[in-house]
Amino acid sequence: MLSNKLLDALSNQVNAEYYSAYLYLVMSAAADEMGLKGCSNWLFCQAQEEMAHGTHIYKYILERGAAPTFAAIDLPPTSFEDIHKVFAMVLEHEQKVSKMCNSLASLAMQESDHAGYQFMMWFVNEQVEEEASATEILNKLKLIGDDSGMLLTLDNELAARMFQDPFPAE
Ligand code: FEO
Repeated sequence: MLSNKLLDALSNQVNAEYYSAYLYLVMSAAADEMGLKGCSNWLFCQAQEEMAHGTHIYKYILERGAAPTFAAIDLPPTSFEDIHKVFAMVLEHEQKVSKMCNSLASLAMQESDHAGYQFMMWFVNEQVEEEASATEILNKLKLIGDDSGMLLTLDNELAARMFQDPFPAE
């Protein structure tokens, strides 16, 4: 049985993952408006991935026989100076999510919930990749600077991303 503390924290994480999805959806639209269809695609795939994360945690709560609590999803920032600022914010956001996942894993251990700890470790490890991808793109953007030709090359690269459901059995 999930402790109330862990249930609250997991419910909060469902909200945070859906907030992430909404944030990336807003960013995807902003990139599209900037004429960067590849960046827009990458961010849209990211939004889909976040929805899959949120749904996975939601289903886990039900599997543990508990009832999730729901709250309003905050409105993310809706205007961005340029694509550099977008990806700087992606990295900053993922670093924040990593902290949340680590805290959740620590809380599960404190509550002696080993299954909950194992469940959260998937997210802890996933965050390493999430931060690495955002860092890689941001570093490329820093090298590109104001070179629009190079920016379009990166945009083409990001157009190739396809959403892969991390939990295909669900
Ligand atoms: Fe679900 Fe990007 O963390």
